[in-house]
Amino acid sequence: MTAEVQFRFDGKVAIVTGAARGVGREIVRAFVEAGARVVAADRDGDGLAETCAPHRDGVTSIVADISTGEGANAIVDRATRTFGRLDICVNNAAVAPHAALLDERAEVWDRVYAVNCRGTFLMTQAAARAMIAGGRGGRIINFSSGAAQRGAAGGAAYASSRAATETFSRVAAVELAPHDILVNTISPGLIDTQPKPLPTEMAKRLAARIPNLPLARPGRPDEVAQLVLFLASDASSYISGAVISIDGASGAGSRFSGAVVDDDIRYDWVTRRTRASS
Ligand SMILES: NC(=O)c1ccc[n+]([C@@H]2O[C@H](COP(=O)([O-])OP(=O)(O)OC[C@H]3O[C@@H](n4cnc5c(N)ncnc54)[C@H](O)[C@@H]3O)[C@@H](O)[C@H]2O)c1
Repeated sequence: MTAEVQFRFDGKVAIVTGAARGVGREIVRAFVEAGARVVAADRDGDGLAETCAPHRDGVTSIVADISTGEGANAIVDRATRTFGRLDICVNNAAVAPHAALLDERAEVWDRVYAVNCRGTFLMTQAAARAMIAGGRGGRIINFSSGAAQRGAAGGAAYASSRAATETFSRVAAVELAPHDILVNTISPGLIDTQPKPLPTEMAKRLAARIPNLPLARPGRPDEVAQLVLFLASDASSYISGAVISIDGASGAGSRFSGAVVDDDIRYDWVTRRTRASS
């Protein structure tokens, strides 16, 4: 199948947090290829340099921590000072350490919430203020996870922090709508972000999940990036306050194999099936 859909963002300015690797790196690439000018932000300077290396023009990078007010403000300031405006803010940065509930350390819990929730809040607030000052409206795209809907072991802090992001984004969508700022949340399922230096046991568990995914494959970062572009584009001008899954149906169920059995005698009156009398 070939995709003919193309979004253009010439003249537009986008912030992408968590841009040093994974999904964020692909979002930067997609925006640059679509003509946007991009602020690539992350706390990892080396990763940011790798992200930006292929792009000669239109990208500026900033090492900053989104969980602090100074970090969030510095990222937004970079956009308005360097490019003169801000149209799109993609709050993709997150941390996802997993721990058994009985062993979970409160300081790790706090750190996860500081990045995933406070960081999303601080970035949304700073970006919205700049967008309102610019008077052209804007788009804010936050991130959640399919994990927010499940009770998977080890995800107490991460999964619940992502659920909080969804609720926060709904509130933001309502409060910012009068300013023509649309706020949506992307909820990915398993996305294959390589290289991924995972602990062996975790890598094994992830690999074991793949055959059970409805499409029997994880998603690709560029597939998530295309959804980001759609939500930043004029094609989504009446979508706000939504949580949009990109999970190849893994939130809907497991891979289907075999046949649907449809011979329940109780419903012959519904199906109008006639049976040979014995
Ligand atoms: N990859 C998946 O399977 C998956 C599944 C569900 C949801 N998600 C969500 O998608 C988004 C991207 O996931 P990913 O797998 O590419 O993540 P990743 O862990 O590969 O990259 C996250 C990036 O965020 C940066 N970051 C972390 N804390 C930061 C901070 N305080 N300030 C600035 N930068 C910070 C990291 O340095 C890193 O570069 C996340 O929001 C994640 O919750 C991913």
